[in-house]
Amino acid sequence: MNVQGNVQGNVQGNVDGKSRYHEVHARSLADPEGFWAEAAKEIDWIEPATKIFDPSQGPYGRWFAGGVVNTCYNALDRHVEGGRADQVALIHDSPLTNSVTKLTYAELLNEVQALAAVMQDFGVGKGDRVLLYMPMVPEAVVAMLACARLGAVHSVVFGGFAAKELATRIDDAQPKLILSASCGIEPGRIVQYKPLLDEAIRLAGSKPKACIVLQRPQLTCEMTPSRDYDWASLRRKALNDGKKAACVPVAATDPLYILYTSGTTGVPKGVVRDNGGHLVAIKWSMFNLYGVKPGEVWWCGSDIGWVVGHSYIVYGPLLHGATSIMYEGKPVGTPDAGAFWRVISEHKAVAFFTAPTAFRAIRKEDPEGKFIRQYDLSKFRTLFLAGERADPPTVEWAEQQLKVPVIDHWWQTETGWCIAGNPVGLGMLPVKHGSPTVPMPGYQVDVVDEAAKPVAANTMGSIVIKLPMPPGCLPTLWNQDERFKEGYLTEFPGYYKTSDAGYKDEDGYVWVMGRTDDIINVAGHRLSTGGMEEILASHPDVAECAVLGVKDAIKGEVPCGFLVLKAGVKRPPAEIEKEIVALVRDKLGPVAAFKLAITVGRLPKTRSGKILRGTIKKIADGESWTMPATIEDPKALDEIGEALKGRV
Ligand code: COA
Ligand code: AMP
Repeated sequence: MNVQGNVQGNVQGNVDGKSRYHEVHARSLADPEGFWAEAAKEIDWIEPATKIFDPSQGPYGRWFAGGVVNTCYNALDRHVEGGRADQVALIHDSPLTNSVTKLTYAELLNEVQALAAVMQDFGVGKGDRVLLYMPMVPEAVVAMLACARLGAVHSVVFGGFAAKELATRIDDAQPKLILSASCGIEPGRIVQYKPLLDEAIRLAGSKPKACIVLQRPQLTCEMTPSRDYDWASLRRKALNDGKKAACVPVAATDPLYILYTSGTTGVPKGVVRDNGGHLVAIKWSMFNLYGVKPGEVWWCGSDIGWVVGHSYIVYGPLLHGATSIMYEGKPVGTPDAGAFWRVISEHKAVAFFTAPTAFRAIRKEDPEGKFIRQYDLSKFRTLFLAGERADPPTVEWAEQQLKVPVIDHWWQTETGWCIAGNPVGLGMLPVKHGSPTVPMPGYQVDVVDEAAKPVAANTMGSIVIKLPMPPGCLPTLWNQDERFKEGYLTEFPGYYKTSDAGYKDEDGYVWVMGRTDDIINVAGHRLSTGGMEEILASHPDVAECAVLGVKDAIKGEVPCGFLVLKAGVKRPPAEIEKEIVALVRDKLGPVAAFKLAITVGRLPKTRSGKILRGTIKKIADGESWTMPATIEDPKALDEIGEALKGRV
């Protein structure tokens, strides 16, 4: 396939041909150790690394081997010691509870020291796992940093996942302690966390020693005697007793956190993030990529349950000495489509990072941008989008309305930071709508064919990253080196497989066009259709099924499940479809946004029995399609078209 980009000068960027990008990127590839050793000077080390990169450790090598460090020290203590004690570190803005809470660096440190001391009393120490199942409240950030302070490994599970998903993560991470809350708040509904937590612990083989539960005033919960402890009482006591935990030195190569992400089966993958590489890469990105200076206000509108939230609500801004906004609300409906502009203007944010889906939702409600003009956005300089491909119409709309550069950037849970982006701090390159621009320093991004050979410019292929990956990227999967090697390093020897397909153009811009596996992207959330199929297949009336992503104007894609019922099932299909929708919500969680289950007589297949997913998707999306030569029975596709009528 040959493709051409659509070059657009951006609205206000410093596109003056003076970007340092090309020189910096070339240097990072020619001398990676020298490049990252210099970047590492921005971090306070207890012991510097003895080897900047040690190829003999781990599946493909480890960064900053021999280094000793503490991530929490770098995020908090050093700023308090260095004159930022009274600067606001965290602004929690919650239209859902109608509150704004601010914590200075000194106050945040105080909270973290106290909670870390509480956790020590429960026996939590270096290397122990602590699982967080929390809504978007400041206590969640305190908990993550308290883990980092102790050298404990946090694993945050997104609140929109159901009990079974939580149980799988508990079993894999085997946490000593779980930190949770009585409820989360979604527009028009309170999400009770406690029954989900109790059910997950019941399902899990590995039982935590204890749970610390934050009672939120919106809905309190029953505590399980001898297992659950009240967060507020423990906190109060620790503060009254003046208990403070000190920073525990950890190896740069020790894990800071595990974050589970969808794999190609229903079993999630535990992405490991180390301390040293993560510190260096994330700190580097705050100015060089995002153009934010210490002391400025930055807003990342994600959730702490996702990698974007880990890197840029919590660690990035705090490591950098910036002020981070944490937002408990939605782009629309809390209370209106002006919510984002209210937050940016009220807190004087200089840059904002969100997912394109949020902009599609705003544009639908406020196509003329009337809300935007109600707010003073004079401090606002740049909008960053990620999580899914930023579709050109959305980018164009955002540029026209906001009159600031709109920067798409591409990354994955696995990498922890941007693979390809437009580096504001180094000097922006011209924006091409639909492309996340160029590989970041440390990343050699190639597009290859099935034989792992780089293809010509503008030719589609698998997007891969030359090993070693830069600091900050996953060194392995939790307790699963082999799965990591098999899943990421084997198919294209010498490379990390991103499982994204796309191409590079003649200017070296990367174009990310879609996944090569069963992952779909729903409202910026990554979901495995294979995992959903496992749930559908578990229904007693289902003989066969296929789940695929179909186009959605707001969410980009939504899952659609096709069911073939067992012979002899007499119940009305509509009844079974309803049960299937409820089953996915119950087993996977509301975040799956699984609302479409469609019964068909059979699934279209090739003569060798492969389900023709690509063709079904095209029919569902209303795109033109051609009859596959290998189809078993062409009529099966007409039947799909019939079944879809009025449903999508
Ligand atoms: N806890 C419990 N339930 C949650 C939840 C949480 N933390 N987050 C979402 N859900 C629920 C929602 O209430 C919704 O439930 P419903 O089926 O009862 O309506 C469901 O999960 C789907 O949520 P979502 O995909 O967020 O859809 P939405 O319709 O509520 O909102 C958008 C749509 C576009 C406004 C929203 O998806 C959004 O803001 N996305 C931005 C994504 C983002 O920032 N991603 C980070 C990557 S950069
Ligand atoms: P996650 O691990 O949840 O961050 O999802 C990562 C996946 O989302 C990537 O592999 C891509 O498929 C997709 N993705 C994220 N950001 C972008 C982007 N800017 N452009 C295209 N796809 C993206």
